[in-house]
Amino acid sequence: MIPLTLRQEIKRQILAREDRRDPITAPRVPPRAQTFIGGGDFESVGNNFFEILKRHGLKPDMNILDVGCGQGRMARPLVGFLDRGSYTGFDIVKDGIDWCQKHYSDVPNFTFQHAPIFNKRYNKSGSVKASDYVFPYPDNSFDLIFLTSVFTHMFADDVQNYLAEISRILKPGSKCLITWFLLNDESMNAENPFYDFAFDFDTVSKTTTPKSPEAAIAFVEAFVRNLYEKYGLKISDIEFGTWAQPDSPYQLQDMVIGLKP
Ligand SMILES: C[S@@+](CC[C@H](N)C(=O)[O-])C[C@H]1O[C@@H](n2cnc3c(N)ncnc32)[C@H](O)[C@@H]1O
Repeated sequence: MIPLTLRQEIKRQILAREDRRDPITAPRVPPRAQTFIGGGDFESVGNNFFEILKRHGLKPDMNILDVGCGQGRMARPLVGFLDRGSYTGFDIVKDGIDWCQKHYSDVPNFTFQHAPIFNKRYNKSGSVKASDYVFPYPDNSFDLIFLTSVFTHMFADDVQNYLAEISRILKPGSKCLITWFLLNDESMNAENPFYDFAFDFDTVSKTTTPKSPEAAIAFVEAFVRNLYEKYGLKISDIEFGTWAQPDSPYQLQDMVIGLKP
């Protein structure tokens, strides 16, 4: 289990009471008190992202990689749809991967893997640095790679290595969909009390919480654009999210659509 602060433990107890009163019966949805992947309704967040994936060309025969898959929130709606393709997810939280391996054991084309990577918030006992991690997949092997709310918990050296790896394992002509908090003139002037990136972490990133910067990290947009260029990924679009543009028709975080030419 991820160690909890007192506030989180109180919240967990409230959710555990709700689980007892109104148990979740839908398949592949974890009990409320066992989720560690953030707020929002587990099923509707996954269903909404499924629509986003389809809008960006998801097809039933694709081989998909979900980096930082957590507890399978984005995997769940793909069951049945990916009938001729495959889904692979990896994450650094072993409990989440164990849970998914158990609950997807009847879905043979879905694989969940644990990566023993250190992150102060999610995996304090991790032995490998994210900035050194070599993804255990061959070059040019995936038709679509996505990361939802993962780079928002990682540092510059880490995201740099991950983008290099994503570029290596993505098939030419394929897309990566990655959510970020992007710092630009508009977002720096936006007023959102929940995402107030007021503290410099380094020259290219800011955090909301200096004591625990992994809680939320935002990167300077120009830095992110340079990284995509450096690793041979073309940015075909950026869907700026509601965190800094309340009228945006898109999801909370900014989503960068990268293409490997
Ligand atoms: C907010 S959760 C989002 C989980 C999932 N992507 C979703 O949207 O349901 C952040 C996830 O990123 C994972 N994570 C953090 N650092 C990671 C890393 N270096 N590599 C892979 N996953 C990581 C955490 O373990 C956690 O599951």
